[in-house]
Amino acid sequence: MGLLPEIETRVSTREYTSDPISDESLSRILEAGRLAPSAKNRQSWRFVVVTDGSVREKIEHAAFGQEYVGVAPVVIALCTTNIEYKMPNGQLSYPIDLSFAASFMMLQATHEGLGSCLVTTFREDDVKSILTVPYSMRVVMLLTIGHVDTRPERIERLPMDRVVSYNHW
Ligand SMILES: Cc1cc2nc3c(=O)[nH]c(=O)nc-3n(C[C@H](O)[C@H](O)[C@H](O)COP(=O)(O)O)c2cc1C
Repeated sequence: MGLLPEIETRVSTREYTSDPISDESLSRILEAGRLAPSAKNRQSWRFVVVTDGSVREKIEHAAFGQEYVGVAPVVIALCTTNIEYKMPNGQLSYPIDLSFAASFMMLQATHEGLGSCLVTTFREDDVKSILTVPYSMRVVMLLTIGHVDTRPERIERLPMDRVVSYNHW
């Protein structure tokens, strides 16, 4: 039994109950993010966990009033502490590093029986101000986590032969 059941089960959840999630689940989700790989193992990240209802409400406003962002009992702001580091291929590492951390957290959330959704539709400056994120840092994404109210249908993916090729493009 591998990870595929979690990968197959995970869907972006946008309807949560307001029930809190357990400290144990939250701690395992954060541990999954902490253990994620990053370029040169720089771990240039900070995970700001928002559980306070009044702060979540402000984050909801910064996310253009998307209701589920305020309903989810936990919102994690995935921030980078280095916006300049480039990998040997010349590309910035932070969006990739943070994506791995988010992926690991989402899969652990699924394993815990919880729903999650990545949110990039937000005013970054507003979120930075709400969470007192230093000016030179960036909030790359938000991750909502909570108990699923209505489970969405799984969205189809392109077939394997459209996305994979061997030995040439
Ligand atoms: C980089 C990235 C940014 C995303 N931003 C948002 C967002 O701002 N709001 C939202 O509701 N979903 C967002 N999503 C979720 C995607 O819409 C979702 O993953 C995609 O439609 C596939 O659906 P699934 O996650 O249910 O399989 C984002 C996902 C990724 C990977």
